[in-house]
Amino acid sequence: MLFKSATALLAFAGLVAAQGTPSADLKHGAAHVTNLNGDFIVDFTFDKVEGGINVTLTGLKGLSTAMAIDKAAGYQYHIHTDPVGPNYGCMATNGHLNPFNGTAPCNTANVTSCEIGDLSGKHGNIVPTADGTFSTIHYIDNQLSFTEPANGALVGRSVVIHNNGTRIACGNLVVDGYGNTTTTGGANPATTTAAGNSAAKLVGSAALTGVVALFMMAL
Ligand SMILES: *[C@@H]1O[C@H](CO)[C@@H](O)[C@H](O)[C@H]1NC(C)=O
Ligand SMILES: *[C@@H]1O[C@H](CO)[C@@H](O)[C@H](O)[C@H]1NC(C)=O
Ligand SMILES: *[C@@H]1O[C@H](CO)[C@@H](O)[C@H](O)[C@H]1NC(C)=O
Ligand SMILES: *[C@@H]1O[C@H](CO)[C@@H](O)[C@H](O)[C@H]1NC(C)=O
Ligand SMILES: *[C@@H]1O[C@H](CO)[C@@H](O)[C@H](O)[C@H]1NC(C)=O
Repeated sequence: MLFKSATALLAFAGLVAAQGTPSADLKHGAAHVTNLNGDFIVDFTFDKVEGGINVTLTGLKGLSTAMAIDKAAGYQYHIHTDPVGPNYGCMATNGHLNPFNGTAPCNTANVTSCEIGDLSGKHGNIVPTADGTFSTIHYIDNQLSFTEPANGALVGRSVVIHNNGTRIACGNLVVDGYGNTTTTGGANPATTTAAGNSAAKLVGSAALTGVVALFMMAL
């Protein structure tokens, strides 16, 4: 079901191109963060609530003590500026969402000074467990928004999990009601190149179903 068609990929390119100014109606987003083989899976949800965005992490598998390079530190995760790319590497997501030039590492005594996208810096790393799952994590982040601040909105972003700095899994942050209505294809060079690659098709069709693709990439 994941490998649909080049048509699905073109539709994905079309809806990305169709993305415009976020509307105030946006309330919910989700990111299925994993690697290509599905060895690591964490589902993230982002819900608009009083005072910010309620972020929930559900650890389905893979983030184990055996895998963690620095077991005490655990896994870092961030919102990155760009979606998972046509070559479906986590590198395509570029850097952390940081429109106000916040600093890293995050000073937890004053999170206003931190990078908006540095979720683990602000709220703590994912602590590995023996079996790779972890108890649900949730918190309200008052810097996040679907519509504000300028250039810092959550739409069109991605979530990346790191293991001692190395990007091990990523997934697009798919926001309901944003850029998911237009399905006409839009040709662009990146799409044409990616269409010959079955895993790139995975990215396209997965995005259409609200699911995402991922991979193991070094920084
Ligand atoms: C945030 O989400 C969690 C579940 O993920 C829920 O238990 C909690 O009540 C939510 N908080 C608010 C303020 O909605
Ligand atoms: C952040 O830094 C960049 C590059 O130095 C600069 O162009 C931009 O105006 C800064 N943004 C803010 C909000 O300070
Ligand atoms: C917290 O950080 C912000 C942004 O860097 C800064 O303007 C503010 O003065 C800091 N507050 C404290 C108490 O240090
Ligand atoms: C973990 O990251 C640190 C800092 O980048 C690096 O010096 C160290 O070699 C890494 N550990 C492993 C086992 O890769
Ligand atoms: C598209 O947005 C609507 C809300 O406008 C939402 O109900 C629906 O689930 C979204 N579809 C996808 C595939 O994200």
